[in-house]
Amino acid sequence: YLQPGSGVVITRGDIHYVVTEWGIAYLYGKSIRERVLEMINIAHPDFREELLEHAKKWKYVYSDQKLPVSIDGRISIYPEKYETFLNLKNGKTIKIRPVKPTDERMIQELHYSLDEQDRYLRFFAPMKDFRHKKIQPMVNIDYSTDMILVGEFSERGEDQIIGLGAFFKTGQPSIAEIAFVVHKDWRGLGIAKFLLKYLSQIGKELNYRTFTGSILLENKPMIHIINSSGYLLKLKRIEGGVTIFAFDLS
Ligand SMILES: CC(C)(COP(=O)(O)OP(=O)(O)OC[C@H]1O[C@@H](n2cnc3c(N)ncnc32)[C@H](O)[C@@H]1OP(=O)(O)O)[C@@H](O)C(=O)NCCC(=O)NCCS
Repeated sequence: YLQPGSGVVITRGDIHYVVTEWGIAYLYGKSIRERVLEMINIAHPDFREELLEHAKKWKYVYSDQKLPVSIDGRISIYPEKYETFLNLKNGKTIKIRPVKPTDERMIQELHYSLDEQDRYLRFFAPMKDFRHKKIQPMVNIDYSTDMILVGEFSERGEDQIIGLGAFFKTGQPSIAEIAFVVHKDWRGLGIAKFLLKYLSQIGKELNYRTFTGSILLENKPMIHIINSSGYLLKLKRIEGGVTIFAFDLS
């Protein structure tokens, strides 16, 4: 057995988790780039930018790699308090948590899994490009003004992001814009409904008073979700096949 304080050495390929007071990095089976980012994001915030610069120099990460930063230029700290679990109608349990910089690959996979119709419903255009440059801003957010909650399913050590719900700041201080997407295999299980409810709670904590958004008229599930949310719509306008809505969080 080991004496307290004994050193333990194992090869890096065997390491599953590294834990610090700033979080947990799951490293197993990840690429060098993902492992480096995982480790940077559980380092003390004062050292993260310096570590990132070294990682760029050694070409472990993209040369334009960013970290979550708030308006004042400081590292935006991952709000672990919002992590929770959701039991789905199919008996499975998923983790709901704020997005992390290391989610880039999984967020790309979620978007590449969408068919043309879904991409049109989500982006109002047949968007096809989900490369690093497009996804990077979605995983490096300022948690004090924006929120992306992801639904993560883990099985046999493999993680998959199966849906997300988000709000983003708009030009008006008390108004945020919402958006959702759920993987085809995981629809109708209550994920988007839960995310809307949870985002509303977090939005209120971040001093938003109103959520707004746009939905295509043919998007029956999303229109149903908004109409059955219990929030009183204060705006519902139809413009060129798009429903523009707004509701108060009170
Ligand atoms: C819209 C979307 C996010 C919904 O996600 P989801 O997790 O399947 O949603 P939920 O399971 O929480 O709720 C779906 C609700 O729509 C209802 N619904 C499904 N099809 C419907 C239809 N044709 N007409 C009316 N309601 C419908 C379901 O019955 C369910 O309501 P219920 O729980 O009261 O029965 C998902 O379909 C999606 O990703 N679509 C593509 C992208 C998109 O449209 N994003 C929204 C624009 S930002």
